Amino acid sequence: MTADPQRWLWAVGALALWLALIAVIVWHERKARAAARARSDALAGAGEGQPVLIAFASQTGFAEELAWMTARSLGDGGVGARVLSFADLDVQTLKATDRALLIVSTTGEGDPPDSAARFVRKVMGEATDLSGLRFGLLALGDRSYDRFCGFGHAVDGWLRRAGAEPLFDMVEVNNGEAGAIRHWQHQLNQITGSITAPDWTPPAYDPWRLVERTLVNPGSPGGEAWHLAFETMGASPDWSAGDIAEVGLPERDGVTPGSREYSIASLPSDGRVEFLIRLIRHPDGAPGLASGWLTQDLALGDQIGMRLRTNRSFHGPADETPMILIGNGTGIAGLRAHLKARTAAGGAWLLFGERTQAHDAFFDAELQAWLASGVLRRIDRSFSRDAGDGQYVQNLVAAAADELRAWVARGAAIYVCGSLEGMSQGVHAALESALGADVALTLLEEGRYRRDVY
Ligand SMILES: Cc1cc2nc3c(=O)[nH]c(=O)nc-3n(C[C@H](O)[C@H](O)[C@H](O)COP(=O)(O)OP(=O)(O)OC[C@H]3O[C@@H](n4cnc5c(N)ncnc54)[C@H](O)[C@@H]3O)c2cc1C
Ligand SMILES: Cc1cc2nc3c(=O)[nH]c(=O)nc-3n(C[C@H](O)[C@H](O)[C@H](O)COP(=O)(O)O)c2cc1C
Repeated sequence: MTADPQRWLWAVGALALWLALIAVIVWHERKARAAARARSDALAGAGEGQPVLIAFASQTGFAEELAWMTARSLGDGGVGARVLSFADLDVQTLKATDRALLIVSTTGEGDPPDSAARFVRKVMGEATDLSGLRFGLLALGDRSYDRFCGFGHAVDGWLRRAGAEPLFDMVEVNNGEAGAIRHWQHQLNQITGSITAPDWTPPAYDPWRLVERTLVNPGSPGGEAWHLAFETMGASPDWSAGDIAEVGLPERDGVTPGSREYSIASLPSDGRVEFLIRLIRHPDGAPGLASGWLTQDLALGDQIGMRLRTNRSFHGPADETPMILIGNGTGIAGLRAHLKARTAAGGAWLLFGERTQAHDAFFDAELQAWLASGVLRRIDRSFSRDAGDGQYVQNLVAAAADELRAWVARGAAIYVCGSLEGMSQGVHAALESALGADVALTLLEEGRYRRDVY
């Protein structure tokens, strides 16, 4: 053991700093939860008797949005409601509840949202008697996936096996389809005894104008990637790093083909919403519906309909918390918004993968400026098509395992953005190897490992 008082002082100082950082993280998380609780408490007192429990499991914010709309509808109909994320839902709460409405999405390949990971392991993993519970289930999904509403079905089956009684058959929503949501509203009317349909069709699109569009990777062996900027033509909206924009597609042959989601790459202080959009090509070479329209057909000055959606699952931590940002391709868009929101206090480490250094080092000048200012402490990039490199971002994660463990020990949070297939699965496996599967799962359950992948 050293007797050098200066070394002891350093050690005590470092420990105090680390404890202070942990305290800030806990405080930040508690503050966010307290705000949601206060909103929920305000709705719980709306009616007589026990409030209806409304629990949501959301990956990209839609289920959460519908949960709050459901709570307000019940409140308008004189029925109190209490809103809770699956992250905060436990078996005692379910046992003590007589009516619950569950709104759950499915992500990955039939998987639960990350915020439901703890619930799946701790609550659904155990046999339970929920015979006192009656429930309604709204399952969000997309029929283009093999396991349509996979997690909704898993929750439904688990509740029935636990003896809970359905109030009505599970309502499945394909890609936000309005008819299914109206059906859910109809079921809410049965609960409140109200005859009129509550007015909560999702908010309409706001008008935005394309003000800038640049091809950022001319000559790349990968698909074209375009940086687009839109200015609002209405009231100035507010959003946070991690939020998502829903872009409405224009009507074609009398049919409205729906919307597409894009990670917002800018902040309100930029005065515009920016995206990084890959032009998708179908096997016959035809451009993707939305990416083709946005990057090729739309002209500067043209108007589009867009709405911004809060995506709390990908919001950033307290500024003092170090961030490890991992992504590939257009995933840099969501990570860039976080870098813009950072100061040098917690700092960040970026691990990014693309095809070629010469053409695909997206936002390089900005990244170098953040490195110089201390916002970025370190950048690791791999370029899979470059001779002498040939690595993917998951290889970078594996190669930096020691440093990664040190950052996580200092309280860092991990944010992953980009491709679901290949990248996020590969990164997850590399994180499990580097940190241990238990630690990776705990970070996921505690919201210190978050993903916006598509
Ligand atoms: C939460 C979220 C955030 C997103 N953020 C971004 C973003 O920041 N930038 C971005 O470019 N895209 C992003 N996307 C994807 C985007 O929403 C569209 O799916 C994409 O632009 C293709 O739409 P499209 O209408 O052009 O293609 P469509 O005409 O609908 O064709 C889709 C076809 O292309 C294939 N396809 C779809 N997406 C991809 C893809 N990413 N890579 C390879 N093949 C694909 C599908 O297999 C399908 O056959 C995000 C998606 C989600 C869910
Ligand atoms: C990466 C990704 C994976 C998805 N996987 C599935 C799936 O396996 N099955 C399904 O029915 N829907 C799937 N969906 C569709 C979502 O469930 C649907 O978009 C839902 O409305 C999202 O709700 P949320 O924003 O609350 O997470 C997936 C969506 C994304 C972006």
